[in-house]
Order: sequence, then C-alpha cells, then structure tokens
Amino acid sequence: MPLVRIDIVKGKSKEYKKNLLDSVHEALIEAFGIEDWDRFQRIVEIDRDDFEFPEGKTDNFMIIELTVFPGRTNEQKKDAIDKITNKISDRLSIAFTDIFIIFNEPPLENWGMGGTQKSTGKVYLVKPDLTFFDQYNDMMNEWCVSGTQIAPWFLNNPFNTLEEYAQFIKMLDMCEHSTSKSAYSTTTSYFVIDETGRLLGATSLRHYLTEDGFNTWGHIGYGIRPSERRKGYAVQSLKLMLEQAKAKNIKKVLIGVHEGNIASWKTVEKCGGVLENTVHVAGDDEAIRRYWIELN
Ligand SMILES: CC(C)(COP(=O)(O)OP(=O)(O)OC[C@H]1O[C@@H](n2cnc3c(N)ncnc32)[C@H](O)[C@@H]1OP(=O)(O)O)[C@@H](O)C(=O)NCCC(=O)NCCS
Repeated sequence: MPLVRIDIVKGKSKEYKKNLLDSVHEALIEAFGIEDWDRFQRIVEIDRDDFEFPEGKTDNFMIIELTVFPGRTNEQKKDAIDKITNKISDRLSIAFTDIFIIFNEPPLENWGMGGTQKSTGKVYLVKPDLTFFDQYNDMMNEWCVSGTQIAPWFLNNPFNTLEEYAQFIKMLDMCEHSTSKSAYSTTTSYFVIDETGRLLGATSLRHYLTEDGFNTWGHIGYGIRPSERRKGYAVQSLKLMLEQAKAKNIKKVLIGVHEGNIASWKTVEKCGGVLENTVHVAGDDEAIRRYWIELN
C-alpha cells in the first residue's frame, strides 16, 4: 500500500505528469512486488516562488515521498530508489540530481483504512512450523546483513531448502519434549508475530536451570528482527513469556544479558527484573548481568 506524493514546480504538461506517476508505479511493482491496482498517487504542483531548493537544482527538481508499510528490506528500498530514478531520468530527461526520494514507514497501528486500524501493535507467540519457511529466511537474511547479535539460541542462518528447515523444526520439537538427560534444559521455542502473521522475532524458555544456565543466561532468551526494533515488541514478548513460565510453575525467572546490551537489560528491567549481580565467564570478554523476575 505505498502512498506516493510528488512535489514538483508548477507548469508541467499532462503527459509529463502521467509519465512521472507511471514511472514510480512501475518501479514499485518491480522492486516491491506490489499489485497493479495498488496505486495511490498524487502530484502536488507548487509555484516556483513558493518552492525553495538549493542552487544547482533545476526547475525539474522533485521530492518523491513514499509512505509504506514497515518491513521492506534495505535491498528492496535500494532497488526501488534505483528504478524510480532511472525510469524518470530516461523517460523525462531529468538529471539524477533533481530527484529526491524519501521512504516513510509508519508502524501498522498508525494506518486507518476503510474505518479499520491496520494493526493494534500487539504481538503473539506461535510455535515455529513449516509455514514460516519463507518468512524465516527473509528475517534471517535481514538479521545477517545487519551484523547485530542473533538471539535466541535457536535462530541461525537462512536455510537453503525446505527439507533443511523441516529438520530444524523437528529439532525444536525434540528440544521441547526430549526425555533423555543432557547438559541442556528442555526448552520451548516460539516465533513472535504480529496480528497479520508477520514474523517479528523469536524467544525461548528453558524449563529449568542447569548449572551453566544458573550462572549465565537463565531461563529466557529473545530477539527482534532489526527492522522491527524500538517498537516495544521485546518488552511485549518477554511479558508473554513470563506468563508461559508461570504456567510451567516456575516461581522466579532468571535472565542473563551482556553488560553492553542496553536494549536487552532495559527490556528486562521494564518487565520487573531485579539485578542480582554481574559475572564474568571464561571465554567471554563482556560481563553478564544476572536479573531475577519474581512471578506472582
Ligand atoms: C534486545 C532487543 C531484543 C530489544 O528489542 P526491541 O524490540 O527493540 O526492544 P523494545 O522496543 O521492547 O525496547 C525495550 C527498551 O529498550 C530500549 N532500547 C531499545 N533499543 C535500544 C538501543 N539501541 N539503545 C538504547 N535503548 C534501547 C527501549 O527504548 C526500551 O526502553 P524504554 O521503554 O525505557 O525506552 C533487540 O535489540 C535485539 O533483538 N537485539 C539482538 C538480540 C539480542 O541482543 N537479544 C537479547 C539477548 S539476551
């Protein structure tokens, strides 16, 4: 649902304006895969006297604002910028320096369409299954490109085939239901989604603490994909996980976070975490903050 607004200097022909709108629309079909009907565009014509822009630009200068649903990857946006610029430049002989493009990505709860709010901004926990294959790969591609820490433990690189992904789903199921004694606790893993089913991140709950678990990372791990951070999703996910822990009769949840991971320890503190201590473990340069959360 891209909403396109193009500000131009007044005085262009009808044909020029049609070409401009068509160029942007075709570029979005190619780069974002939108449908042909999905076209909400307007041109705003401004008297030259009312339109200030720096020297060096010509009267062909334009600002193209695209308001879109959040979640497109950096590659898709780069592709859209390249395609829009090239098409306009080719068809209307406009210099690249006269074309400015900006994407706005308001969260889904800010969209009201046909009297309905697009999303309430709520998140949900679901068990990972085969239907998430494409979304999982998309999320992990985004995560790997960002270079940020990947957590919880079960997230990994994208899978090449559905068969490999199916093995991963099977492994998660075994981790939850295994009865064999091992160095690791049994663990329940969840994907975090919004109400449209978009994959936002993941979280996991260890059912009990092993000695290592007690000394370091505790019961719960979580992570939110880079494009969806700072929207309160980690806090919401952790609150839902605390309910899961309660349902398993866990009275006190331990969570360990790296000292430098401010976003993570703020998340724990917002969910009632009380700092017990800071520990150093062999092989890890960074100290770990250990937090307890009492479950009533
Ligand atoms: C840690 C992580 C899960 C936070 O996810 P998020 O959805 O952005 O977090 P939220 O939006 O719920 O924000 C939680 C708090 O952290 C703060 N915060 C988020 N990102 C921040 C940042 N980069 N710097 C400082 N504070 C930050 C938020 O402002 C909020 O605090 P506030 O409400 O007091 O302002 C996310 O950054 C992530 O996935 N990181 C990589 C994986 C990871 O480190 N997981 C934790 C391992 S223990």
